[in-house]
Amino acid sequence: MLLRPVVLLYLAIQQLRVNGGFVMKIDFGNCKLRSWHLEDVGSLVKHANNRKIWVNLRDQFPHPYTQTDGQNWIQTALTVRPETSFAIDVGGMAVGSIGFRLQTDVERFSAEVGYWLGEEFWGRGIGTAALKAATQYAVGAYRLNRIFALPFEGNIASMHVLEKARCRRECQLRKSVYKNGQFMDQLLYAYIVEG
Ligand SMILES: CC(C)(COP(=O)(O)OP(=O)(O)OC[C@H]1O[C@@H](n2cnc3c(N)ncnc32)[C@H](O)[C@@H]1OP(=O)(O)O)[C@@H](O)C(=O)NCCC(=O)NCCS
Repeated sequence: MLLRPVVLLYLAIQQLRVNGGFVMKIDFGNCKLRSWHLEDVGSLVKHANNRKIWVNLRDQFPHPYTQTDGQNWIQTALTVRPETSFAIDVGGMAVGSIGFRLQTDVERFSAEVGYWLGEEFWGRGIGTAALKAATQYAVGAYRLNRIFALPFEGNIASMHVLEKARCRRECQLRKSVYKNGQFMDQLLYAYIVEG
C-alpha cells in the first residue's frame, strides 16, 4: 500500500537548471511533482483516457485521450515559460497532472489551478498532497496572492481536496458551464496568501 503522503509530507522544492531552463521537482512522501518528459506519453494516455476524469474537467481535456493528445500536451508543457504544468509522479510514472493558469492585468497575482489523478490512485491522499505542494511552490515561483479552483457541482472529491489544502469556498457560479450535455454550477474555491 502507498504510504499516505499527507502524513509523510516531506517537501523538498528544487529548481535545477537544465539546458538553460528550469525543471521543477517537489518530493512528498513517495510521490513527486516534476516537469513532464517526452517519455511520459504512454503513462499519460493510459491514465488520462478515462471518462470519469473527463467529466470533471473542461472540454479542452480530450476524450478519448489519444497518443497525439498526449504528445501535444507534453510538447506544450515543455515549451510554455514559466513552466506551469507538472506531472504527478508515483513510483517513477506520470499518473496525473497539476497545473496553473496565470491570470493577467489587475488579476496578475492570481492563478487558477487544475488537476487530475489516475483513477487507480484515488482515495490515498495523493491529490491533497499534490495540491498542497503545488500551491506552496506556485505562491513563491509566480509571486501569487491568490490561487483558485472551479470544481463542477457534484465533484465532492475535488471539494474535499480543496478544503484540506486550505482553500475556502467563496461562492457558487450558477449554470456557468455546459458540460456533458447539461448546464452545471461551478463552485469557486480560493487560497489566499496571508500577510
Ligand atoms: C479530484 C482528485 C484529484 C482527488 O484525488 P485523490 O488523490 O483521490 O484525493 P484525496 O485522496 O487526497 O482526497 C479525496 C477526498 O474526497 C473524498 N471523496 C472521494 N470521493 C467522494 C465521494 N464520492 N463522496 C464524498 N467524498 C468523496 C475522500 O474521502 C477524500 O476526503 P477525506 O480525506 O476527507 O476522506 C481525483 O478524484 C480526480 O482526479 N478526479 C477527476 C478529475 C477532477 O475532478 N479534477 C479536479 C477538477 S476541479
